[in-house]
Amino acid sequence: MNNTSNPVPVVTIDGPGGAGKGTVAAAIAAAQGWHLLDSGALYRIIAVSGEAAAIALDDTKALVALCERLQIVFAADRVRVDGQDLTDAIRTEEAGSSASKVAAMAPVREAILALQQGFRRAPGLVADGRDMGTVVFPDAPVKIFLDASAQARAERRYNQLKNKGLGVNLRALLEQIQERDARDRERAVAPLKPAQDALIIDSTQMTIKEVVAMVMTQLASKVG
Ligand code: DC
Repeated sequence: MNNTSNPVPVVTIDGPGGAGKGTVAAAIAAAQGWHLLDSGALYRIIAVSGEAAAIALDDTKALVALCERLQIVFAADRVRVDGQDLTDAIRTEEAGSSASKVAAMAPVREAILALQQGFRRAPGLVADGRDMGTVVFPDAPVKIFLDASAQARAERRYNQLKNKGLGVNLRALLEQIQERDARDRERAVAPLKPAQDALIIDSTQMTIKEVVAMVMTQLASKVG
């Protein structure tokens, strides 16, 4: 699946948490009528399902076995795992932090590699995560690395949570973001970094609309 002769186009959008990857990826997929892979959701599912099954987050063997048996279905903006709706449960800060821990294990990443590559189906795929352009789809014709300052990302998250009526602390959010960034960037396997041929977009001072327009321009120039 993952070779240079694969004709199905892929747009990869990598970057740290809170840079707007998910929103931009969904907008591009909708505009193109393409499939969408939210790879972070997979790591979140493994972490949340692992915790529910009382598996320690450093028990690599048990986590790999879990990956092999989980039945994951993405449909209509919801995710069901073994028949249970986990859409909201995987979106908490704790789930993100636990996901970052399980994602640091090479065997866990290998266990879901083929699953991720299986999302590459005609007419095209938009995939967001940390290693979409570097490891999972290295032959993607369009690679984006979407960045933003940690402060801007913390503020965006703060406003999102506040709008949902949740009590949050900006300083604590910033610390969580910095801790997760460090773990994702410094891990030995598939660390967060731009692919050599990625277009780097710093969205700190940009609206989502401006980022989407930039990615669409890049897509038009590379894929047509
Ligand atoms: O994008 P997200 O916040 O949903 O991702 C949650 C965690 O999963 C992130 O901190 C690191 C990990 N992750 C990863 O290692 N590789 C990916 N392709 C996507 C996410």
